[in-house]
Amino acid sequence: MKGILLAGGSGTRLHPMTLAASKQLLPVYDKPMVYYPLSTLMLAEIRDILVISTPEDLPQFRRLLGTGERFGVQFSYAEQPRPEGIAQAFLIGRDWIGGEACALVLGDNLVHGDHLSALLRAAATRPEGATVFAYQVRDPERYGVVSFDQSGRPAEIVEKPAAPLSNWAVTGVYFYDRQVSDIARQIRPSARGELEITELNQIYLEAGVLHVERLSRGCAWLDAGTPDSLLQAATFVQTIQSRTGMLVGCPEEVAFRKGYIDAATLRDQARAMGKTELGRVLMELAEGEHA
Ligand code: TTP
Repeated sequence: MKGILLAGGSGTRLHPMTLAASKQLLPVYDKPMVYYPLSTLMLAEIRDILVISTPEDLPQFRRLLGTGERFGVQFSYAEQPRPEGIAQAFLIGRDWIGGEACALVLGDNLVHGDHLSALLRAAATRPEGATVFAYQVRDPERYGVVSFDQSGRPAEIVEKPAAPLSNWAVTGVYFYDRQVSDIARQIRPSARGELEITELNQIYLEAGVLHVERLSRGCAWLDAGTPDSLLQAATFVQTIQSRTGMLVGCPEEVAFRKGYIDAATLRDQARAMGKTELGRVLMELAEGEHA
């Protein structure tokens, strides 16, 4: 399976911070925001990754991420000239996807928690249909909202409903089968002029092949699109890391644990981080001090 990391958009809710910098390159505690969704793709064992961003910001992503060699993955890059919707990623990436199954993660979404790796791997290996993840939130009207029927099957997905039928928001981590590029072509722009990911999910739902994985309270889902949520995400990462000594959303760590890079490469990465705490933890990991 391939994976798209979508890191464009206009970031208007973070103005003026995003007037001259990409939202997804802003720091979330000790790492650039994009590291968190990148780690999500890598935990799903996806190593062929297309990074999509705006023409202005794409060079910075290339500078940060490079070829992917140091993470044991391969990056390709593509521009989204205007923010015309999340589902547009599958049109921009159509040739690169080449008729394969493809996942999509939003560049400002952080997921973390119990059993998540297993859920991600299961989603990535499901041969048909689509898998999305739902999370209970207090403000579902900000998101795509999924409701369920009596037997717990997904019944309906509505984008930013005024009167939500449930408090289950669809997170920014999506897995689709090889039909995805063709199905994305059927979507027409919504009233706000975007190719909506919710519409893509609705098509899979109506075909009876949308799998909705409900994340438990043992998991965290944060999006970092507003000043408050950006601060909450940073505090979350700081709290977990300083309490446990383990890292959240660190692609170098995932790469090493998955065997995509060896200890020598990890040591080089750790050294490149100089005197940072992140560098110190990665060096310990390379020396075999973390089980
Ligand atoms: P949003 O948070 O909905 O939009 P935005 O990032 O443009 O921010 P704002 O609402 O503050 O103006 O986007 C969710 C994610 O998807 C985010 O990582 C940006 C990305 N995105 C694109 O890359 N291209 C798009 O066309 C859209 C709509 C979003």
